[in-house]
Amino acid sequence: MNKKTILITGGCGFIGTNAAEYWLKKGYRVIVFDNLSRVGAKENLRWLKTQKGLIFVRGDIRNSQSIENTFKKYKPELVLHLAAQVTMVTSVKKPREDFEINALGTFNVLEALRKEAPEACLLYTSTNKVYGEMTDLEVVEKDKRYEYKDFKGISEERHIDPHGPYGCSKCTGDQYTIDWSRIYGLKTVVFRQSGIYGPHQFGIEEQGWLAWLVNAILFDKPITIYGDGKQVRDVLFIDDLLKAYDFALTNIKETKGKAYNVGGASFSLSIWELFDILEKLSGKKFKYSFGDWRPGDQKVYISDISKAEKDFNWSPNVSPKEGVEKLYSWILKNKAAVKRAGVFAQNYPIVK
Ligand SMILES: NC(=O)c1ccc[n+]([C@@H]2O[C@H](COP(=O)([O-])OP(=O)(O)OC[C@H]3O[C@@H](n4cnc5c(N)ncnc54)[C@H](O)[C@@H]3O)[C@@H](O)[C@H]2O)c1
Repeated sequence: MNKKTILITGGCGFIGTNAAEYWLKKGYRVIVFDNLSRVGAKENLRWLKTQKGLIFVRGDIRNSQSIENTFKKYKPELVLHLAAQVTMVTSVKKPREDFEINALGTFNVLEALRKEAPEACLLYTSTNKVYGEMTDLEVVEKDKRYEYKDFKGISEERHIDPHGPYGCSKCTGDQYTIDWSRIYGLKTVVFRQSGIYGPHQFGIEEQGWLAWLVNAILFDKPITIYGDGKQVRDVLFIDDLLKAYDFALTNIKETKGKAYNVGGASFSLSIWELFDILEKLSGKKFKYSFGDWRPGDQKVYISDISKAEKDFNWSPNVSPKEGVEKLYSWILKNKAAVKRAGVFAQNYPIVK
């Protein structure tokens, strides 16, 4: 029997590598499409190449021909569109590249789907940044964290108000993905994610805050806290996220054309709370200084995941303590790869 095929754009990134492993275990032929621009992508590829049933295509989503040819050649049944410029800071420095990758690149992927695999299901990974700073929401200051005042979390009913080039470009991809279902009847679904963490994550100062702090403590590097350290994010361990991808794609009749907020919900951490976990695990103390709040930084972001719970019966299981311990031991075992990847370099490149 022929194997089913899944195409993962950005498949050498953190989420992509874990997704590749997940669908390989499910017996799929896995096509990983990536331009290897991300810090750590080459290390992930080195690991992926040890897995049977995986095909790597080096390509760039900004090149419409390259992505169309990949759809034409492999005719996937499932597509995870993860490839992106992922940092707010880089997007401010290089807004055109950010737009070309996240907005135009997503358009290219959707057009390749429409032309070459219109029956396939596609999941696009958007971000909570589509909702902007949300300064109207009242927060209360506690000892080690901010909290919403009388408010559960952000639902998909919240109006879109992206801040910064990254917010705008990801939001463009988000809206096109929804619309390609409305206009062309394609089976597309959008996940608005917040902080995801887990193995194969090469956290840098600009993105992947949880893994960045694990790197800092394990390599004895000083860090800057932008703001006061009480900012809170919900945190979702990668295994929980991959189940959500799977459930949403399996229930595509229900989920198509919709956007879902997918985050840790009741699982959340402030920087100080993560410090506590990591200082206990490592027996070391963080070296840190303070910097200004970064533009668009929310004091609290917690997802309301009721829609995902209702539509595809999903909620997260892995607690921050358990998840952080898993990430910590992965980085501890892979210190050489993390070092080679250059997570402490300045000015991470965008591949032209
Ligand atoms: N990790 C999170 O916490 C989080 C939160 C919200 C949204 N997301 C979204 O999820 C997706 C995956 O995130 P991740 O954490 O795995 O990021 P990542 O940076 O680890 O992976 C992205 C991958 O895309 C590749 N890539 C970048 N530009 C490309 C291009 N032009 N053509 C082909 N490949 C390209 C990179 O080399 C990298 O391997 C992204 O779309 C991101 O915006 C992630």
